[in-house]
Amino acid sequence: MRASTRSAVPPFAVMEILDAVQRRRDTGAEVFSLCAGEPGGGAPTDVRERAAELLAQDVPLGYTGSLGLPSLRRAVADHYGRWYGLDVDPARVAITTGSSGAFVLAFLAAFEPGDRVALARPGYPAYRNILTALGCEVVELPCGAAERYQPTPERLDEAVREHGPLAGLVLASPANPTGTMVDDAELSALHAWCDAHDTRLISDEIYHGIVAGTRDQHCAWEHGSSSVIVSSFSKYWGMTGWRLGWALLPEDLTGPVDALAGNLALCPPTLAQHAALQAFTAGSYAECDAAAARYRDHRALLLGRLPALGWGATAPADGAFYLYADITERIRASGDADAVAWCARLLADTGVALTPGTDFDAVDGAQWVRLSYATDTATLEAGLERLAAWG
Ligand SMILES: Cc1ncc(COP(=O)(O)O)c(C=O)c1O
Repeated sequence: MRASTRSAVPPFAVMEILDAVQRRRDTGAEVFSLCAGEPGGGAPTDVRERAAELLAQDVPLGYTGSLGLPSLRRAVADHYGRWYGLDVDPARVAITTGSSGAFVLAFLAAFEPGDRVALARPGYPAYRNILTALGCEVVELPCGAAERYQPTPERLDEAVREHGPLAGLVLASPANPTGTMVDDAELSALHAWCDAHDTRLISDEIYHGIVAGTRDQHCAWEHGSSSVIVSSFSKYWGMTGWRLGWALLPEDLTGPVDALAGNLALCPPTLAQHAALQAFTAGSYAECDAAAARYRDHRALLLGRLPALGWGATAPADGAFYLYADITERIRASGDADAVAWCARLLADTGVALTPGTDFDAVDGAQWVRLSYATDTATLEAGLERLAAWG
């Protein structure tokens, strides 16, 4: 007996960095963690208080429906009215186990084994790895500075010429690791291209709410509802470990996702669902907006310090809390083999933890790093000082 070949997906390199960070912390040494894509502040007060109340009241908290509590599905639908002026039918909302759960369900419902699905390189590695494990053929679109690291209709045309028809396109705006966004005209053009080519658009909007103001955020459903929208309580609401996200589903995928969800996870986490109803209070929005404003300040601080770091090109971060930077020259000058070795030495010498680009781009990522500024201001400032002083 042996493990299946499809389970042979690469592990995240950032996990090794996180292990090294933990080992260093255990020795009492200083750590300035700028590697985790995780807001430090935690869930909004109203959400935490509701969870505590529920536990104190001894509510049974049994299974819910497979697509989640009707009240939460309605609350998520209302959120789309509030942010985008969209009238979303709560029956199209599937509450899921993080957006990660939504991806598995959406990919299973939308794609056959062997289907070709396109995505930007650099990009979030789980898309590639889940699709591969499900037997889909991943078509990476080499998206560089000229296209703001985002897919374009021209890149999609090229991919079709080279590989054949595409069953899907995964789009993330703002993206991880680059933080770049497509504007509304670009989103509209991608939606139209997908509709014209019978290509299912899966739009990852998990970083909405965390935007720097360089571009407006738009939901793909402003351009039609053939696409799947994936989002989450993890980032704007700071609820990573609560494992709660959602998908907005086109009509033809709703029944299949319902059936799959009931079989794969029975239901999303019940305590988190009840508490998440409080994510949409005025107080919760105010707290999350304050965190987003802090990230904007962090971004400005970081951009101001960039010249002192001696890095090369950086992606023009429009949102999320990442900066993706080309460090080819720094690596060459240091004599390190690649960004993985450079990041390991940086951590050992200074306590500053960054993520090597290899997680996001198997072709060019060995020359890039991702810095996450989702940390507190003092850690970011101290980390940047040490980075600048490091030889
Ligand atoms: C672009 C993107 N999508 C999805 C996820 C998954 O988040 P979650 O499953 O916590 O909703 C992440 C996590 O970092 C991400 O960066």
